[in-house]
Amino acid sequence: MKKRILVAGGTGYIGSHTVVELQNNGYEVIIVDNLSNSRADVVDSIEQITGIRPAFEKVDCLDYEGMDAVFTKYPGIEGIIHFAASKAVGESVEKPLLYYRNNIVSLINILELMPKHGVKGIIFSSSCTVYGQPDVLPVTESAPIKKAESPYGNTKQINEEIIDDTIASGSPIKAIKLRYFNPIGAHPTALIGELPNGVPQNLIPYLTQTAMGIREKLSVFGDDYDTPDGSCIRDYIYVVDLAKAHVIAMNRILDGKQKQASEVFNVGTGRGLSVLELINAFESSTGVKLNYQIAPRRAGDIVKVWADPSYANNELGWKAETSIEDTLRSAWKWQVHLREKGIM
Ligand code: NAD
Ligand code: WQD
Repeated sequence: MKKRILVAGGTGYIGSHTVVELQNNGYEVIIVDNLSNSRADVVDSIEQITGIRPAFEKVDCLDYEGMDAVFTKYPGIEGIIHFAASKAVGESVEKPLLYYRNNIVSLINILELMPKHGVKGIIFSSSCTVYGQPDVLPVTESAPIKKAESPYGNTKQINEEIIDDTIASGSPIKAIKLRYFNPIGAHPTALIGELPNGVPQNLIPYLTQTAMGIREKLSVFGDDYDTPDGSCIRDYIYVVDLAKAHVIAMNRILDGKQKQASEVFNVGTGRGLSVLELINAFESSTGVKLNYQIAPRRAGDIVKVWADPSYANNELGWKAETSIEDTLRSAWKWQVHLREKGIM
């Protein structure tokens, strides 16, 4: 019988790609999402890609009874992947309580319900944001956690601690915290991808929308940083590679292969790319010219961060495989698909 996995936030950007990989690897998926930042028709697209329609429940993770009812309706859920969260850094500064409530209470509800329903393990979406500006690069999992730059970042730090404290208190559950670097790109079918609300705050959706003519010009936030070309450096990880890391992590939990009950892994490529390098790679891999200008620095930006992914490479047997060129082509194909569908 297929193992049942609940994916909270499964119609979202990273969640939808992960549902595809879970189904391709023989898992049965139940999606829970309140659709606050995604669309119900993502379920149709997942079915188109995999030939399997995942169960979908429009439930808010903040609703304890509603979540309880989902576990009762689908008995035998063995694992949870918890993507459901609010993620806009700027908005979190303006509405901290909304972020603290949504991101923290959702996790608490899930952690309380897991033992009640015999769920063995949880994979939690954490972020490289917990490292702030690391003193040593590439950054390993043992690097110190820096004071969070935003309420959003703080929710990731707090949630990691909540998971560890819960397990330390004797809760019978297992956990893997995945610290994502910068997820980008879309499924090669262009049937699922990132759908930002309003004006994108992140680089890739702004870039592809500019290339499409939806935005006039991409601003490169700063070219006078202490980096080889002066622009900021990040570790851009292809969303499908990232999705695959979740399947491997879930196998590890359910097969009882963990070294500790709560583990943490960096999920990145190990390669840092500057904003200007990324723009060049986009132009050369897609043949599309980009209108951009150098603009002032963005407040609060980390200058440079990239992962040491060797722990995930060696211990999980997972590695980022996709080239930045293929990744950027997938992002562009998705933007073209949105235009063809009349969505954007
Ligand atoms: P997303 O907004 O596309 O997906 C999150 C999904 O959760 C959405 O479908 C949203 O509708 C849903 N959701 C939010 N609150 C909910 C609630 N209370 N109940 C039920 N559903 C709820 O975001 P994403 O980029 O796919 O990110 C997924 C996770 O990964 C988040 O936890 C995010 O913080 C984390 N993360 C993202 C990035 C990134 O750059 N995208 C980087 C590091 C970590
Ligand atoms: C990438 C680079 C910008 C837009 C944020 C969150 C972080 C994580 C991922 C979840 C930076 C530059 C951007 C633009 C630009 N999310 N840029 N022009 O800042 O690494 O991280 O998303 O956990 O928590 O803070 O990602 O995509 O915003 O920026 O020059 O219009 O692109 O300065 O160097 P960031 P980003």
